[in-house]
Amino acid sequence: MRLIGKKVDLRPIQEEDLPELIRWGRNRELQHFMDGEYPKDLGEAHQWLRQAEADRQTKLLAIVTKEDRLIGDIELVHISWRRRECELRIRIGEEEDRNRGHGADAIRTLLLYAFSSLHLERVYLRVYSFNKRAIRCYTKCGFRKEGRLRRQNDREHEIILMEVLRSQCLPSSANPAV
Ligand SMILES: CC(C)(COP(=O)(O)OP(=O)(O)OC[C@H]1O[C@@H](n2cnc3c(N)ncnc32)[C@H](O)[C@@H]1OP(=O)(O)O)[C@@H](O)C(=O)NCCC(=O)NCCS
Repeated sequence: MRLIGKKVDLRPIQEEDLPELIRWGRNRELQHFMDGEYPKDLGEAHQWLRQAEADRQTKLLAIVTKEDRLIGDIELVHISWRRRECELRIRIGEEEDRNRGHGADAIRTLLLYAFSSLHLERVYLRVYSFNKRAIRCYTKCGFRKEGRLRRQNDREHEIILMEVLRSQCLPSSANPAV
C-alpha cells in the first residue's frame, strides 16, 4: 500500500527504517511533544512493528518524501470499526523537515484514506496546549477543538482534544493509491 500525497507519500514501515525511528524515540525534544511511548531500541521496535501489523485497530505508516526519504511516521490507533472512529498520531522526526507543509499533507492524505477507504466517520487526536505548531497544523487539516483534559496535579500539561468528521472534511486532491 502506498498513499500518494502532494508533497509526501505514506507507505508501510520497513526494517531499514527502524534505526531512524529509534533515534527519534530517544530524542528528548520530541518526547516533550508526544504523549505515549515509542520504541527506544531495536527489540522494542521489532515488537512495536509486529504488533502494529497484526492489530486490526492500528494503521501505522512511514511518511516519506517523493524520493522515499523517511521523515516521520503517522498512525491511526484505537480504530473502532463499530463506532467508525479512531485516534491519529504523527511525528516529523527532524526540525529541518518541520514547518514545510509535510505534516499537513501527510494528515490530509491519511484522512482521505480513513474516510473514503476505511469508511470511518470521525478521527480525533490529543495535543498538548503548548504545542501551537501542531494545533495550527491540525486546524489547517480541518480538526476542531472538542474539549480539554488536565491530568491530576499537572497544570502544565493541559491536553486539547480535537476532531474532524467525515462530513466536515473537504479532502485535498490527494489521491491515495491503495
Ligand atoms: C506537529 C507536526 C506533525 C506538524 O507537521 P509540520 O510539517 O511541521 O506542519 P506544517 O508545516 O504542515 O504546519 C505547521 C503550521 O504551524 C505554523 N507554526 C509553526 N510554529 C508555530 C507556532 N509556534 N505557533 C503557531 N503556529 C506555528 C506554521 O507556520 C504552519 O502554519 P502555516 O502553514 O499556516 O504557515 C510536526 O511539527 C512535528 O512532528 N512536531 C514534533 C512532534 C509533534 O509535535 N507531534 C504532534 C504531537 S500531538
